[in-house]
Amino acid sequence: MCGIVGFIGQGNVQEVLISGLEKLEYRGYDSAGIFVIDQANQAHLFKEEGRIAKLKTVVDFELATKVGIGHTRWATHGPAAKHNAHPHQSPSGRFVLVHNGVIENFNQLREEYLNGVTLQSQTDTEIAVAIIEHFAVNEDLSGKEAFKKALSVIEGSYAFGLIDVENPDVMYAAKNKSPLLIGKGQGFNMICSDAMAGIAYTNQYIEIKDKELITLTADQVTIEDFQGQVIDRPAYVAELDASDLEKGTYPYYMIKEIDEQPAVMRRLIQEYQGPNGHFEVEASLTKDLLAADRVYIVACGTSNHAGWVGKSLLEKLVKLPTEVHLSSEFAYQLPLLSEHPFFIFLTQSGETADSRQALVKVNELGYPSLTITNVKGSTLSREASHTLLLHAGPEIAVASTKAYTAQIAVMAVLADALAHEKYGQSSMDMVRELSIVASAMETILADKDKINEWASQNLLATRNAFYIGRLLDYYVAMESALKLKEISYIQTEAFAAGELKHGTIALVEEGTPVIGLITDPSVAAHTRGNIEEVRARGAQTMVISTKVTAKAEDDFVLPSVHANLTPLATVIVTQLIAYFTTLGKGYDVDKPRNLAKSVTVE
Ligand code: G6P
Repeated sequence: MCGIVGFIGQGNVQEVLISGLEKLEYRGYDSAGIFVIDQANQAHLFKEEGRIAKLKTVVDFELATKVGIGHTRWATHGPAAKHNAHPHQSPSGRFVLVHNGVIENFNQLREEYLNGVTLQSQTDTEIAVAIIEHFAVNEDLSGKEAFKKALSVIEGSYAFGLIDVENPDVMYAAKNKSPLLIGKGQGFNMICSDAMAGIAYTNQYIEIKDKELITLTADQVTIEDFQGQVIDRPAYVAELDASDLEKGTYPYYMIKEIDEQPAVMRRLIQEYQGPNGHFEVEASLTKDLLAADRVYIVACGTSNHAGWVGKSLLEKLVKLPTEVHLSSEFAYQLPLLSEHPFFIFLTQSGETADSRQALVKVNELGYPSLTITNVKGSTLSREASHTLLLHAGPEIAVASTKAYTAQIAVMAVLADALAHEKYGQSSMDMVRELSIVASAMETILADKDKINEWASQNLLATRNAFYIGRLLDYYVAMESALKLKEISYIQTEAFAAGELKHGTIALVEEGTPVIGLITDPSVAAHTRGNIEEVRARGAQTMVISTKVTAKAEDDFVLPSVHANLTPLATVIVTQLIAYFTTLGKGYDVDKPRNLAKSVTVE
């Protein structure tokens, strides 16, 4: 969702901005633009609806430039169109702004300050840049002071990069709720939505906190609060390997990331295995968790689905009652909390606005929390009491795959560490079982052709499909349905297999694909009964089972993994179903329509 890159100093600014924006493509966008000032202080604006590839065809890369800002836009106010694409200019063209976030009081700001001003776009951003100019002109403020004044009246979420054409040796930035980082270089400085955008140029980053004003020149960065107090904050090194951001020989990031899952499982074993052979996490985290009488897992989308499997692991192995909540609901209506609650935020990006809002609430109440994330130094990681990292490497495809399995594995690591602390032992050897999972994943990944064949035969022409399963299989069904619908646009729903007959079976027609997940022997017969019911009504069924539940006629039999970890195997098949179906339908698997990877607005 909206990506920002800004650069000031020595270098080909256009190239830095475009390559940075390409690294942010994964976040999801529908238009893009850059603004640069050349050595003769001439301003140049390039924007286009659609992909960065299209923007590249209009950018003049020959210009010798010294400062610039770039943006990928995910439409919120006004449709995806060239005139709504960022950067936006103030009425006279003096100020140029890029913005990620949503300005909540934009109508009010327009009425109060912009009477008679004609705007070119339908965006809240253009209102923000126009009021910066309004303050500069009407209150005779410097560019910096006018920006500061505008920030004092703007309400909502924002990450801003600002250029004042009258002062082209300086760039300004500020943020509230939306992510933005400073990248420090030799002879240049940058701003970017995440470190991936700048990693080809620098690995030194400085975090920006909400409501700070940043002034950048080619060789200096000044951070101050709104009272003008200068803040000294050291840079940290972003541990990102630029080659992780490339597809290599793969046609799409999604299939690369699906294939990486066994390696991620093994990396997690390495990262978290302690000297006693079992998993260990920081003592302060175990202490806080074991002092809790109830755990609340809060997350969105795929991460929320991983949370359900996490709940089952905490309850089975640690006997810790656990609830799973959607961040966007939780933030605004807390459930009745237990006396000693503990909160776990599952978030691949560590930046999801809905989850962050829930964490803000939890912090206000003073409760302990843990963020499980793939991004070290991300907002939710910084603001929670504890962090565990997913060590999955950057996930670029919008549809989450390796982050989901890494989240489940880290929940397994945590449950194992807690069980050992609480009971001195665990009912399962988690290290061994996760390494069995890694091998099982490899076996499934070697069977891609079979999965491709089934998907091509049964899913390409359908408008809708169903996943059904019970218990852990139901949790995987939720994730599997999301995967298929979000990239292939087939309306796919997940149902607890037993619920189907209570209404949804009315939707099953001749040929409707129904995929049954059957890995738990205690409910296998019941789910098979439900499969028969839909078959009798014409459904085209596929059964994914495991060695302990298999029947000769099943379509895909998974290699054996521990009963508590079956989702880690089952989901590999369903990720591949989503991938091959989408390929077969000719859609872009990595960049599905309307979706953003990092959802930084509520
Ligand atoms: C978006 C992404 C999903 C992701 C969800 C939560 O909707 O498209 O893939 O699961 O956000 O993101 P998080 O970074 O908090 O895990």
